[in-house]
Amino acid sequence: MERNDQDRIIRKIDLERFLSTIAPHPFPQASLEQYTTTEPIAATLLFLASYSNSDIVGKTVVDLGCGTGRLTLGASFLGANQVVGIDIDKTAVKTAHETAKRLKMNKNINWIIGDISVIKGHFNTILQNPPFGIQKRNADRRFLKKALELGNIVYSIHNHPSTDKKLMKLLGNSSNKLIRVSPSPFLQEYIEKHNGKIIAIYSMMMTIPKMFSFHKKKKHSFIIDLYWIEKCKKSDVL
Ligand SMILES: C[S@@+](CC[C@H](N)C(=O)[O-])C[C@H]1O[C@@H](n2cnc3c(N)ncnc32)[C@H](O)[C@@H]1O
Repeated sequence: MERNDQDRIIRKIDLERFLSTIAPHPFPQASLEQYTTTEPIAATLLFLASYSNSDIVGKTVVDLGCGTGRLTLGASFLGANQVVGIDIDKTAVKTAHETAKRLKMNKNINWIIGDISVIKGHFNTILQNPPFGIQKRNADRRFLKKALELGNIVYSIHNHPSTDKKLMKLLGNSSNKLIRVSPSPFLQEYIEKHNGKIIAIYSMMMTIPKMFSFHKKKKHSFIIDLYWIEKCKKSDVL
């Protein structure tokens, strides 16, 4: 990236520190899968989008299912031009808005309370950690469809399709390791049906604290897949 594309390069550790100051949801609901994206995962997504691919700095960005705003605020912190964060849950958006006010970051951020279907228009980049569909089957599919309607570049977090012991061993306990993997055939088919092309998928280990009654342990670790997707150009589709 050209140095003059942005005012400053932010270190990943500083981005993680910044993300850790963002308040989590005060009373998350399992039905909406309201867990906060952990700092290492959010920072990796934002770093990939921003510094490997130039998809954040100076760009218009939307965060679908923004929760309390980790990806929205992270994108703005890295230098996005305009960011929209949308979530169906009023408390989540209110918390995000208050954090943005506290951090004096509301100038280029718009917060929307509503279902993702209400958002229209075009954005350079779409970021999302949608509900995986654990509570409501295939909940992530609607988000992918909407993301591919709204713009050409999508970074989207999904549940890894199986309990892959070998992959778990390779990832270990570190949330900072990422391993390139193949797509879930179902998601791949769905993405391609909606004119998306998967550029790469990276598996990472996400560890969240016990939040919901069905969590049996103090910490809950699972593999997530970070999808980097591009919308096919018309000429690719023909
Ligand atoms: C896994 S959480 C991720 C939260 C946030 N993006 C983050 O990174 O911390 C998924 C979010 O999607 C929101 N959500 C679920 N269904 C939605 C819908 N139909 N429209 C908008 N937001 C939705 C939930 O309220 C929740 O905040």
